[in-house]
Amino acid sequence: MSPPYSLASHSAVMHTHGKLGELNKTFRQEKRMEQDFKHPTFPVVLQAKANGSGTAFKDPAFMENRAAPVHRWVPWIAGFSGAFVDSVLAAYLNRKNSAIVLDPFSGVGTTLIQAAIRGYNVVGFEINPYATLATEGKLKALRVKSKVLTDTIEALQLDARTWRNGRAVEEAAPESFQSRIPFYSPRIKKQVLHALGFISKIEDDRVRDLFRVAFGSVMVSFSNYTYEPSLSSRPGAGKPLIEDANVATVIMEKLKQIRYDIEWLRREASGTKPGNGRIYNEDFFTGERRIKSESIDLMITSPPYLNNYHYARNTRPQLYWLGLISSPAEQRPLEEKNFGTFWQIAREKEHVALTFEHRGLERILAGLRMINPEKGQYGGRGWANYAASYFNDCDRFLGALKRVLSRGGTGVVVVGNSILQGVNVPVQDIIGDIAEIRGLTLEGIYRLRDKRVGASITTSSARIGTSKATLDESAVVVKKRR
Ligand SMILES: C[S@@+](CC[C@H](N)C(=O)[O-])C[C@H]1O[C@@H](n2cnc3c(N)ncnc32)[C@H](O)[C@@H]1O
Repeated sequence: MSPPYSLASHSAVMHTHGKLGELNKTFRQEKRMEQDFKHPTFPVVLQAKANGSGTAFKDPAFMENRAAPVHRWVPWIAGFSGAFVDSVLAAYLNRKNSAIVLDPFSGVGTTLIQAAIRGYNVVGFEINPYATLATEGKLKALRVKSKVLTDTIEALQLDARTWRNGRAVEEAAPESFQSRIPFYSPRIKKQVLHALGFISKIEDDRVRDLFRVAFGSVMVSFSNYTYEPSLSSRPGAGKPLIEDANVATVIMEKLKQIRYDIEWLRREASGTKPGNGRIYNEDFFTGERRIKSESIDLMITSPPYLNNYHYARNTRPQLYWLGLISSPAEQRPLEEKNFGTFWQIAREKEHVALTFEHRGLERILAGLRMINPEKGQYGGRGWANYAASYFNDCDRFLGALKRVLSRGGTGVVVVGNSILQGVNVPVQDIIGDIAEIRGLTLEGIYRLRDKRVGASITTSSARIGTSKATLDESAVVVKKRR
């Protein structure tokens, strides 16, 4: 099947009329004249002055990003804030201009955007195509022509006048996208397909990408689903179905925010030379070969936590409706290659053994395996397999980090502990130990915040344990010897 719409290649001449037709013609002319650039570049934000106070990190919560220009375009689970990245840059790079910063699990690009803004060259990997699209859109934002963006928003507004009447819809919904209840009401679906049809005809690829990011960011808000923070049906979360909404208005509000932030960036950027940025939509374990040994001065990352948050499933709407994947077969690798894989995959295996020696962790896993044996893969055994897979990937990750870090280079891993079947797993401590096993030096494990008190993944019906547990977050800081 074909995706709901496809990216128009630069050379493809699209038959568009009216305002968008004129914009596309101008774009084609300019594209021919324009020197192509190797790496997207962009400057400044400066939402918080780097505090330069050693390990006094800023709160890593992504919350702050929700209000921060550019970072706020796409909400993403378990990220950290631009201010946190700033404090790490100040603590470990000290304005070393030529430094290269890596984020191997870059999400929607907080590390990459913030470090590039500060003038550092950045490289990142992200397995999820939607998160990658968001990062790319941000990295290229300053190369977007304001007038083209404004004119295309206006063209959308004009086009949308006929979305809610009888005009025939040209686009098709993604065939393989399935949901328990209709994802969109008929009235909304029609508008959504018109919106996607409009976006697919924008030839300026940077502007088109920003429209796609805007659509992806808001598309669940007018659906019958909601983030809780996992994707659930609205009735399941006690919320009413959405029969009708003005889809164009919601998308345009997001686009106006994006346009506002780009203008803000331009003002902040004047006089600053931004770093070069590169994001690979690739599994880090496959992609790490792209990075030269001993070339990275600082790594700042937050890998998936040991909490089975299912990035691939939770972004299915964006992945399918934006045409980033078109079948479950394309979704599967995103799940299998996800850091640590998912409980749903690991639980089915007979016995996942650790690929390295760690007595304490082995004891935790052995204890877990003994919980609820009668539940088979849904009992402790399944969770022990999941934890073992997760830590095996921690080991691979730290091995790769050891290779790519320059001598004297630093790695900062933001991660939290987990409670599996009522058993506390001190992820941060174990990651610190694995780093040392891998030959890195552990500078310290710095508590960033007590995240929440509550029953985390311990209370799902498939799991046992109702104890209140404290979940916290720390920065594990490792160094490579000189
Ligand atoms: C905790 S989030 C990172 C959030 C990021 N710090 C931010 O602020 O946006 C972890 C990310 O790792 C990505 N990921 C999972 N497995 C990966 C892999 N094997 N290679 C690259 N990225 C992966 C997930 O898709 C997710 O976006």
